[in-house]
Amino acid sequence: MTARPDKQDPNTLSFETLAVHGGNEVDTASGAIRTPIVMANSYHLPTDSSDVDWSDTSIALYTRNSGHNQIRLQQKLAAMEQGEDAAVFATGVAALHAVFFTLLRTGDHVVVSDVTYEAVWRLFVELLPERYQIEATFVDTSDIEVVKAAIRPNTKLIHTETIANPTTKVSDIAALSSVARQAGVLLSVDSTFTPPPLFRPLASGADLVIHSLTKYINGHGDAMGGAVIGRKDLVQRIKGDALVDVGGSIAPFNAWLIMRGSVTLPLRLEQHCRSAEFVAHHLSSDPRIAYVHHPSLQSHPQHEIATRQFGARGFGGVIAFALEGDPAIQNRFVSNLKVITSAVSLGHDESLIVHVGATARGGSERWPDEFRKYGHLRLSVGLEETDDLITDIATALDLTFDG
Ligand SMILES: Cc1ncc(COP(=O)(O)O)c(C=O)c1O
Repeated sequence: MTARPDKQDPNTLSFETLAVHGGNEVDTASGAIRTPIVMANSYHLPTDSSDVDWSDTSIALYTRNSGHNQIRLQQKLAAMEQGEDAAVFATGVAALHAVFFTLLRTGDHVVVSDVTYEAVWRLFVELLPERYQIEATFVDTSDIEVVKAAIRPNTKLIHTETIANPTTKVSDIAALSSVARQAGVLLSVDSTFTPPPLFRPLASGADLVIHSLTKYINGHGDAMGGAVIGRKDLVQRIKGDALVDVGGSIAPFNAWLIMRGSVTLPLRLEQHCRSAEFVAHHLSSDPRIAYVHHPSLQSHPQHEIATRQFGARGFGGVIAFALEGDPAIQNRFVSNLKVITSAVSLGHDESLIVHVGATARGGSERWPDEFRKYGHLRLSVGLEETDDLITDIATALDLTFDG
């Protein structure tokens, strides 16, 4: 039984086809047409192993470096993002840390979005400055002039999120990449909220794209993972420094689950975006709602950038909003929901909501005024029937205010 030959050049296949076939091949040992899970730490060595490079990540050698399922997932993600290479990790945070750990040295400076996932905020406010004297300036990356002004002679990296967690602020990746190029610095983009085919940061000039695979790419809330995708020379350095010598490798079973989950990514994403847009418009027309942020809304501060950048395919599945009222009102609303589940994470099949306080750790002092007045509810709109979600929200609102 032989492996199916490469069907076609990945660059000529549509995204939907890559989502099904990318990284998959006929298993030569069993004839199975799906890549099986290989739960092994180690792989058989050649007869003469004396000149094997023990840090090699290109062959299945030792699962910390690379294993059968990791290699397949890396091939698939690289094809989906149209990057030269990909590195997969145990979590999205491990992937983010791998980028910063590999690219930055003592005395380097980074320009970071003032709205970021909390772990990135802590890495750049506490851990990297305290341990390695790496400096960070937090700026509004949706304002190109502010980003330009923040660049210093020792700046090495600009880091942003396409749609930022939690406020849904949108940055213009093509504009940021031209600033980065002119300044001779790298641009890394966390695109967890906008997986392909919604948006491909590399095509807009980013050097590296990072995903929490835990979210939309797996999509089923049953595995954690992270990825860095981009130029081969950069990804090879990241694998060498952060995977082989720091660890944080993904388990074969999780890599296999994410491979499977990602098959339906284009279909799920379309539904997430459509439903989120519907729910956001519904919320914004209810007078009991203090504010709603979703890039599909004309009231969103970066609606125009979002429309230009990815609006043709949708605006992502995460909404930030709050009810008129104090934290007890927000909590009462969440506990009155019956279909939408109160839990962290996002991009799962089920809708998830989390109440975040007005002064939450993670940079809340830089969030918009309304977030700091009311706190916010971060709603990740799932794949349930949209009418059921609207009914759940309407019933919970009635119970909260009238019940
Ligand atoms: C934008 C973003 N990046 C990275 C992460 C971290 O991913 P993980 O939880 O897989 O470590 C998250 C988690 O919520 C996220 O929202």
